Parts: sequence; C-alpha cells; structure tokens
Amino acid sequence: MNASNLDLFDAEEAPVATRERIGERAIVLRGLALSYVPELLPALEAIGRAAPFRHMTTPGGLRMSVALTNCGALGWTSDAHGYRYTRRDPQTGQPWPAMPAPFLRLARAAAAEAGFEDFRPDACLVNRYLPGTRLSLHQDRDEHDFAAPIVSVSLGIPAVFLFGGHARADRAARIPLHHGDVLVWGGPDRLRYHGVLPVKEAHHPLLGGQRINFTFREAGRP
Ligand code: SIN
Ligand code: FE2
Repeated sequence: MNASNLDLFDAEEAPVATRERIGERAIVLRGLALSYVPELLPALEAIGRAAPFRHMTTPGGLRMSVALTNCGALGWTSDAHGYRYTRRDPQTGQPWPAMPAPFLRLARAAAAEAGFEDFRPDACLVNRYLPGTRLSLHQDRDEHDFAAPIVSVSLGIPAVFLFGGHARADRAARIPLHHGDVLVWGGPDRLRYHGVLPVKEAHHPLLGGQRINFTFREAGRP
C-alpha cells in the first residue's frame, strides 16, 4: 500500500475496536466506549450528585482506597457486616440512581461483542481511582449467580489491570487499560481473581487526574 492509499484508508474506515483475548471467555475491546463518552460523562456527574462517591469499609475494618458509588436497581456496598447488594444507598436512604440509558446500551453492546447475548445488568458499580489508589486481588462473587459476564469500562487516566486465575496465588497477567477500553469476562473466566495496581499520576483531558471504572453486573435478587 503506498502513502496515498494509506491516507484514503484512514479517512474512510471507521477505526475498528481492536480485541485482545485474555482468557477463554475474557476479552479486551480497545476503545469500544469512546463513542459513548459524550453521553456517559454528564450522566456520571448526575450520579455523583445523587449518590456521592465514598470510601467504604471492608468487613475486616479497612478503609477501601477506591471511592465508589452505584447506579442501577442494585448497588454494591461493603461494611462491617460484609459485602452485598442493596436497593438503597445506605448513605442517603434513597434508591440508587437509575442506570442511564447510554450506560445500558454500552454494557449490552460490549457483552454482545464478547459473545454474551442479552446481557441485562441491574447493577453498575462506579469506582474512582486517584493516583495511588489500588484494588487488591478479589473475585466478583456477591452476585446471585455467575451465568452473566462482568463488563468493565475504563475512563480517564490509565491503569494496569491484574487478571489472575482461580486461586489468589495464581500468577496474574498485567493488562494496561486506557480511556475507552472495555473488558468483558464470563463463562469459565467469570470467577477469576482480578485487581488494579496503584494508579500512577497522570492527566486526562476530559477527566483530569482520575480514573473512573464502571463494572456492570447481573446481581440478581439482593
Ligand atoms: C473491579 O474489579 O470492581 C474494578 C476493576 C477496575 O477498576 O478495572
Ligand atoms: Fe471486581
């Protein structure tokens, strides 16, 4: 291909989100969320006003370094009594903010791209990472069943995601995640350990010095 053909190619082809398989049913969809960002950000601000980001406490009494909130019928919470999903925000006593339509469209599109048809998330955990924030290795196992995948959307400054195995001690792959990347894991990969390395200082033109992550789940009955 000569230079002018390359130019033509760039101008006429919409960039196809590249995909990286990281497990039998686990895949990174690079940039898949980018076209949704103009709709996601105002909706995110509204969620933060109705249900402010807060640092929860683990059942063991540790303050989580990630700040979180939720949208959707069910929201994930942690306190001295354990991890669980609730219909109301324990801080405000109000139902969690509804899941905005573009959130749902993005989650369903990503799941379908990864081969999981008819994903119906009822919970979206919204995590906020500032430089130094980390998330230690854990499994997502507070959902009613594990038939549906997890869809995880990264926005803002980059982070390194750890994707381990079925035992905490299994070696974890390091996967850099950037603004707009979506990670989907389900099927035999659904209960794999995962986490996030301490986030490095950086600046993102739309989100400043923070990383925002949405994880969509079918939590089922609380
Ligand atoms: C999570 O495991 O809940 C969040 C993962 C991430 O922030 O990428
Ligand atoms: Fe998780």
